[in-house]
Amino acid sequence: MLRNQWYVVLDSKELKKNKLLGVTRLGEKLVFWRDSNGDIGCIFDKCTHRGASLSKGRILSNNKVQCPFHGFEYDTSGKVTKIPANGKHAPVPNRYRVNSYHAVDKFGLIWIFWGENRKEYPPIPFFEDIDEKFKYDTFIDHWPVHYSRAIENQLDVVHLPFVHSNTIGRGCRTLIEGPIIKWTEKELQVWAYMREDDGSKPRKPEELPEPKNKALLHFRFGNIWQNRLGNAFRIFAAFVPIDEENTIIYLRLYQKVWRLPITGWIITRIANRIGNKKILRQDKRVVITQLPKKSALKIKENLIQSDSPIIEFRRRRKEMLEENNK
Ligand code: FES
Ligand SMILES: [Fe+2]
Repeated sequence: MLRNQWYVVLDSKELKKNKLLGVTRLGEKLVFWRDSNGDIGCIFDKCTHRGASLSKGRILSNNKVQCPFHGFEYDTSGKVTKIPANGKHAPVPNRYRVNSYHAVDKFGLIWIFWGENRKEYPPIPFFEDIDEKFKYDTFIDHWPVHYSRAIENQLDVVHLPFVHSNTIGRGCRTLIEGPIIKWTEKELQVWAYMREDDGSKPRKPEELPEPKNKALLHFRFGNIWQNRLGNAFRIFAAFVPIDEENTIIYLRLYQKVWRLPITGWIITRIANRIGNKKILRQDKRVVITQLPKKSALKIKENLIQSDSPIIEFRRRRKEMLEENNK
């Protein structure tokens, strides 16, 4: 997985006040907590002393996490600040520590910067055009796939009439023109055009006119995506890597048409839990069967012109892995 990136790792609502949360993310056992200042702690969930799980401990009134076994206390940087058996005035050598990640709660999501801690962090790569006017609902689903496969599925414009024949792909034409792909400084953008198969060849991206509308699909590293269904509707997903073979998808419907407090919330929730969930489960049924489980630029597949967004994602990912994971 790609180092030195911001990753969505949880929905904000999953992290309750005064409660330790032990989860596996990016192949690592981590413990999260909120301290009384509203800061988020994220450290390795394995005590440096004798390996007990810190998430089975407790949060003390001084904001430290106390190991359940012999009471070592940790701060949000992963440093042990107290070893009770040595006495409260005994200094704690620096080697008593566990790894930590910089974590923040923003846009209703918990993010970690998965990489070396540093003085300054790059901005959180959330979509600027999803503002607080939108209402949203979140649906959480576990997929037994590597997160690269889950991302690729959301960049795949070819599958709509087949996987989603009775939902969003109903009546979709099967012939794909282009698609047009662009990289901006922040994201991969995809414009997809489907048309009737009249026997003529699909045009290549360079044969298509410059798009006038905003792109339909947007992907940002580490792990977020949106489908821009128009100014007022978005489908957002965070593909949260658990380990090499598991991903949790946080799927959101954002809308700003129904904004009244209760009705807006009910409509958003119903549309997400019924409509979006059904579509996601149609994807899941097929994507979990894909082999190999983990994608890469060069694997045994026979790709076609309209797979270009997937190829671009793989190409850039490989490039970034070489740069970031040295
Ligand atoms: S294992 Fe954590 S304090 Fe001993
Ligand atoms: Fe799909």
